[in-house]
Amino acid sequence: MSENDDQFARARVSIPGGVNSPVRAFGSVGGTPRFLVSANGAYVTDVEGRNYVDLVSSWGPAILGHAHPDAVKAVQDAAARGLSFGASTPAETELAELVRARVTNAAGDAPIEKLRLVSTGTEATMTAIRLARGFTGRELLIKFAGHYHGHSDGLLAEAGSGLATLSMPGSAGVTAATAAQTIVVPYNDLEALRAVFAERGDNIAAIIFEAAAANMGVVVPQPGFNAAISKLAHEYGALTIIDEVLTGFRVGPAGWWGLESETTPWIPDLVTFGKVVGGGMPLAALGGRADVMDYLAPLGPVYQAGTLSGNPVAVAAGLATLRAADDAVYAKLHAVADTISAAVSTALTAEGVAHVVQRAGTLFSFVFSSTAPQNYDEVRAQDAFRYPPFFHAMLDAGVSLPPSVYEAWFVSAAFDDDAIARVVAALPAAARAAAAATP
Ligand SMILES: Cc1ncc(COP(=O)(O)O)c(C=O)c1O
Repeated sequence: MSENDDQFARARVSIPGGVNSPVRAFGSVGGTPRFLVSANGAYVTDVEGRNYVDLVSSWGPAILGHAHPDAVKAVQDAAARGLSFGASTPAETELAELVRARVTNAAGDAPIEKLRLVSTGTEATMTAIRLARGFTGRELLIKFAGHYHGHSDGLLAEAGSGLATLSMPGSAGVTAATAAQTIVVPYNDLEALRAVFAERGDNIAAIIFEAAAANMGVVVPQPGFNAAISKLAHEYGALTIIDEVLTGFRVGPAGWWGLESETTPWIPDLVTFGKVVGGGMPLAALGGRADVMDYLAPLGPVYQAGTLSGNPVAVAAGLATLRAADDAVYAKLHAVADTISAAVSTALTAEGVAHVVQRAGTLFSFVFSSTAPQNYDEVRAQDAFRYPPFFHAMLDAGVSLPPSVYEAWFVSAAFDDDAIARVVAALPAAARAAAAATP
C-alpha cells in the first residue's frame, strides 16, 4: 500500500467515499486519488512527495497558477486583519465595482449593474433562479441537458460531468414536484427550445445555461445560439441566466459573454460567477439588471443571505486574482492551451485514435469520436473507455488530468517550458494506452 492508498482508506472511514466532492474519487478512471499537500505555480505535490503538472487548476480558479504571490499576500494580509466580520467591508464594494467594470464589451454594454457575493457557484445559480421566479411570478425553469449549475435540487437533471462520471441520470432526494419544475432541453437545438416556449411559455420564469458548456467536456454554443435564446426568452417574458461560474474570467477578461458579444451582441438578464472570481477561496456571485437584482432582500421580497457571504479573506483573494489577470495572462493561457491541445491531438493522431479537440477560449477538452458533438447525447456516444488508460499513463508520468473524460482541461499562466515539456513527453505512451483500450 502506498501512502496515497493509506490516506484513501483512512478517509473512507470518516468521509463518504473518502472525498468531499464526488469526481475527486477517481470513480470513472479507477485507481487511487492522489492526496495533495501543496501546490505551487503549475504543479501540485502529493503526500508521497511526487509532483505533477496540474491540468485541473482546482477545477478552474487557479488561472494565475497555484499560490500566486499577489493572491497569497492579499490573503495573509486580510487574514491578519480578521477572518470574518459578518458585516459590510469596503473590499466587497471594490470587488463588485471591478466585476461590473470588467464585464463590458466593445459596444459598451455592461450587463452587471448590481452584484451580490455568495460563497459557492451552487448558491449563485440557486439564488439567481429564485430571483427570476420572484421577479416574474412564474415557476418553470429551462436548462440544457449536460449543463451543470451546481447541486441544488432543481438543477440536477442531466447535469453533466459529475453525474455522467457516476452514470447517474439525476439525484435521489429531489422531490417529484421540484423535478417537474425544471424542463430539460437538448443543447444547441433552437427548435426544441421554441417548442417548449410555445407550449409552456406563459409560466417559464427563466432559462439557465452555461455561457459555453464545459461540464460535459467543452461544447460551444453554435454561433448566435445564446443571442437567439435571449430573444426567444424575452418574447415570452422569461429571463436569461447565463452561468459563467466556470467560463467567467477564465476564457477571457469578460468571460464567454465578453468574447461572444464582440461579434453577436446580446445582453443577459442575470449572470453567475464563481471559481476565478474568488481566486481559489469560497466566493461566488450573481449579478445583472438592477431592477431584477433589487428584488433581493433587503430591498425586495426574494430572500437570500449568508454568514460568510463576502468573506473578507475570500474577497481579498478574488480582488488580487482579478487585478493580476491582465491581457498578458489571457494571452499566455491561450498560448498554453494551443500548445497542449495541439500536442495531445498530434499524439492521438499518431496512434490512429479518433478524437476531436473541443475549444472555448482558453478551455479545451477532447472527445474520443470522429465528429464534434453538439449536445450531451453526442458527447456520451464517444469511446469513453479510452480515457482511463490515457489518464493513468499521464498520471504515472507526473501529469494530473481531470479524472473524467467529461471535464475540461484547465491550464494556468504559470505553465513554463518545463511543465509543457513534461506534458508533451508523457503523451506518446498515453496515446498508445488509449489506442490499445477496449470497451
Ligand atoms: C458552470 C457551473 N456552474 C455552477 C457550478 C457550481 O459551483 P460550485 O462548485 O462552486 O458550487 C459549477 C461547478 O463546477 C459550474 O461549472
